[in-house]
Amino acid sequence: MPLTVLTHPLAEHFMTHLRDKTTKPATFRTLAQNLSLLLAIEATRDIKTETKGIETPLEHMTGRILAHQPLVVVPILRAGLGMVQPFTELFPDVSVGYVGLERDHETAKPRSYYCKLPPLKGLQVFIVDPMLATGGSAAAAISEIKRHGATNVRLLSIVSSPEGVAEVERVHPGTVIYTAALDRELNARKYILPGLGDFGDRLYGT
Ligand code: PRP
Ligand code: URA
Repeated sequence: MPLTVLTHPLAEHFMTHLRDKTTKPATFRTLAQNLSLLLAIEATRDIKTETKGIETPLEHMTGRILAHQPLVVVPILRAGLGMVQPFTELFPDVSVGYVGLERDHETAKPRSYYCKLPPLKGLQVFIVDPMLATGGSAAAAISEIKRHGATNVRLLSIVSSPEGVAEVERVHPGTVIYTAALDRELNARKYILPGLGDFGDRLYGT
């Protein structure tokens, strides 16, 4: 299964503060962005580049710059919004699509309430959602994104459960997943352990 777990010491540092229940929303948002930046860098490690000749103050040289390639980032609302900014800063030409999904509190099944996606055929799509718990939301989002023509989809999450990773692999085999932490398990209410609680509530102070 194509799963990459961040190993950078900064990721561990940000993650520990993010999990801490005393961390307040303003700091939580900054930490989420920092982790999303590390994930975005890792998930674009194989992005295409091309040569460019430049003059340094001393001589001519040939460097490399990003080749033109349309990228799309799709946050799963609402918590995924906290992961978008690093993408728009690193890749100013990125298109942003939106998938709105909300887990039912009783069944933990996702309910779709919004979808706004640009044409996705042939484009590299990065889905961002900080929590991969049962995997139901991610699997539903990938289905929707594939219905819009995408064939090249990567999923970025901040905390994942083994159950969620297995569910995405079951429904969409071969999906490439990047996560900052692979946690132990889900509890009876389908929350990730040790996890960090409800990401959306902590991000927005609700
Ligand atoms: C959270 C999270 C994921 C989903 C993960 O969203 O952001 O989208 O739960 O759970 P799953 O893997 O079991 O589907 P939530 O439904 O709480 O909505 P919110 O982002 O609006 O808070
Ligand atoms: N959604 C969250 O925000 N946290 C979890 O642990 C599981 C789903």
